[in-house]
Amino acid sequence: MTPMETERLIIRQFAEGDWPGLHEMIVRYHEFENAAYDPTHPWPTAPEEIRKIAAWFASGESYLAVCLKDTGRFIGFVCLNPLEKEGSREYNLGYIFDSNYRGQGYATEACRAMLGRAFGELQADQVVTGTATSNVPSVRLLHRLGFRSTGEGRFALSRDEWERGIHG
Ligand SMILES: CC(C)(COP(=O)(O)OP(=O)(O)OC[C@H]1O[C@@H](n2cnc3c(N)ncnc32)[C@H](O)[C@@H]1OP(=O)(O)O)[C@@H](O)C(=O)NCCC(=O)NCCS
Repeated sequence: MTPMETERLIIRQFAEGDWPGLHEMIVRYHEFENAAYDPTHPWPTAPEEIRKIAAWFASGESYLAVCLKDTGRFIGFVCLNPLEKEGSREYNLGYIFDSNYRGQGYATEACRAMLGRAFGELQADQVVTGTATSNVPSVRLLHRLGFRSTGEGRFALSRDEWERGIHG
């Protein structure tokens, strides 16, 4: 894919060589309590596992690396996963940003570009996403992006070490 350029960011296809930045970010993410509400929880943190994830991301165009334009530094990823919906082209938006690069509007900037890609090049009819209501930065991000709440449910997004459901 052609990399997307925003005011401060480059959003591009993953490369296997992105794994050290991805690794640093995921390790820090695990120090952040909202990781427990991520359906992917627990993320693997072993370098070999992260290397495999980076290779898998690099093999497709759903997960994209977000880098600072001026330094090339990897700061997070955004994804658009196609959903199986008859008669409607829908995507699920996802995002994780390195905790060292939050609070500066980078996630908003990258996600806006991804919505542009979804409704432009990918010809989406709808983009959906979900987040735990307790994940305040994520809820605020979705409001900034213009997402409309379609409902709230109570269900386990992931399980703790005793296999009890963790609710958002
Ligand atoms: C969700 C997540 C991406 C939000 O990150 P974020 O840093 O709050 O979002 P942004 O990068 O868009 O930054 C927005 C904040 O920067 C501020 N900001 C500073 N400069 C800005 C600028 N130039 N433009 C826009 N916002 C700016 C905004 O006011 C906002 O702060 P506020 O929420 O206190 O008002 C981040 O918390 C994260 O990666 N969490 C872990 C992953 C996760 O939970 N994913 C969802 C799982 S379902």
